[in-house]
Amino acid sequence: MEVKIRELEAGDIWNGFLETLDHLKPTSGIRREKAEEVFRMIDSNPDHIVLVAEAGGSIVGTGSIFIDHKFIHNGGRVGHIEDTVVSGEYQKRGIGDMLMDALVEISAGKGCYKTALNCPDHIIPFQVRRGFKVGLQNMRYDH
Ligand SMILES: CC(C)(COP(=O)(O)OP(=O)(O)OC[C@H]1O[C@@H](n2cnc3c(N)ncnc32)[C@H](O)[C@@H]1OP(=O)(O)O)[C@@H](O)C(=O)NCCC(=O)NCCS
Repeated sequence: MEVKIRELEAGDIWNGFLETLDHLKPTSGIRREKAEEVFRMIDSNPDHIVLVAEAGGSIVGTGSIFIDHKFIHNGGRVGHIEDTVVSGEYQKRGIGDMLMDALVEISAGKGCYKTALNCPDHIIPFQVRRGFKVGLQNMRYDH
């Protein structure tokens, strides 16, 4: 199975991308105009990159990263990885690793001193195996 990792293109949205995200959170019900607006916002920001894994002519995996510019750490940068997911039937074939490798490479290439992510407890072993360390507690405030 040939898998290509590349940046998200507009046509991908309707070619498996939203259904892939369904494996993380129900997503494919999003209105067309809203999905296109989100794409335009991301596409216009060089510090927000969405990668996709393409196999057999459709999108079967994705992961995103945005670069946080800081005053601390002498104007340092942090790469935040979000929404990494591989479609059910394509899991356990190395695609998650390929996406994570590419995202961490982008983070390093943009000069980030660290790469951070949040993940559910059952995914911690996958990330620890890749060299991630369990860090500070994650908190949230819902609006
Ligand atoms: C996490 C996820 C992206 C991994 O994708 P994947 O394509 O199945 O992962 P890979 O096939 O590249 O796995 C690479 C290695 O990690 C291991 N691995 C995969 N999921 C694992 C898990 N949950 N716990 C421990 N190891 C895991 C694999 O066995 C494989 O090890 P090996 O090379 O020694 O055989 C996928 O399980 C997924 O989409 N989960 C649902 C969405 C989610 O929770 N995402 C949150 C990410 S923070």
